[in-house]
Amino acid sequence: MTPENDIVYLNGRFLPLEEARISVLDRGFLFGDGVYEVIPAYGGRLFRLDEHLARLESSLDQIRIRPLLSHREWESILERLLPDDRDRSVYLQVTRGVAEKRDHAMPAKPTPTVFAMSSELKNPYDVHVGVGAITLDDTRWQLCQVKAITLLANILLRQQALDSNCAEAILIRDGLVSEGAASNVFAVIDDVLVTPPKSHDLLPGITRDLLLELAQANAIEAREAAIPAEALAAADEIWLTSSTREILPVVELDGKRVGDGSPGSIWRSMYDIYQAYKQSLRSS
Ligand code: PDD
Repeated sequence: MTPENDIVYLNGRFLPLEEARISVLDRGFLFGDGVYEVIPAYGGRLFRLDEHLARLESSLDQIRIRPLLSHREWESILERLLPDDRDRSVYLQVTRGVAEKRDHAMPAKPTPTVFAMSSELKNPYDVHVGVGAITLDDTRWQLCQVKAITLLANILLRQQALDSNCAEAILIRDGLVSEGAASNVFAVIDDVLVTPPKSHDLLPGITRDLLLELAQANAIEAREAAIPAEALAAADEIWLTSSTREILPVVELDGKRVGDGSPGSIWRSMYDIYQAYKQSLRSS
């Protein structure tokens, strides 16, 4: 994401992107030792901010960085990165900061590096057409619930999907769907919307949780349950969810059509519900 709004936040200061500098000894740079969030903003309003900040706190806690700022303080920083009412995506990253020398061991008293920027939010895919996906072995680690900046495995998996002219890799661990390389997965199986339960195998997506809430509020039958790879292959609908791609229907999996090869009817209902929910936030 390139912040065409050039003002970014770095360690207590707002400054133009070109002036933002960190040390090469930052542990984020040397080790990928940090965590991040991606938060959409619609009409100048941060979407599900408390949920994103709660997940950030959980990620920080799990990598042993103390909480840095209150929700109110984060909010006032992030709001300053929204120059207008256009839909935007805010990226924020916290690393364990600069250590005196390169050493895997954590410094006793770290000073975390805090960085945030925003960019225009545009889904690169036509959701009304849908996308292709491939299934791949989940080669990642066992702390997928942490939103770590260490994304090399996700990058390799996603690139393998792109190289096969697909938008996403759907990851399979021990025969079960975990999530996408940068998204959560839903499937419609026997008219029920299903997504894998939270575990160390997947990121607890904010969009995922919202979809479960919206399904319940709108009498769409939904369940958190394991999805075997064979059940995914036979599903009537498959969706990918994330803050930047919202609800993206998969219309082709491993070269075979999903359903009739176009976005399904439950997706259409959920898409409308989701857009209405966003709209209510914009105008609130
Ligand atoms: N990624 N799983 C993974 C591995 C992800 O990277 C993401 C999102 C999600 C969906 O989470 P959420 O609904 O909270 O965005 C699930 C972001 C958008 C990214 O890395 O850019």
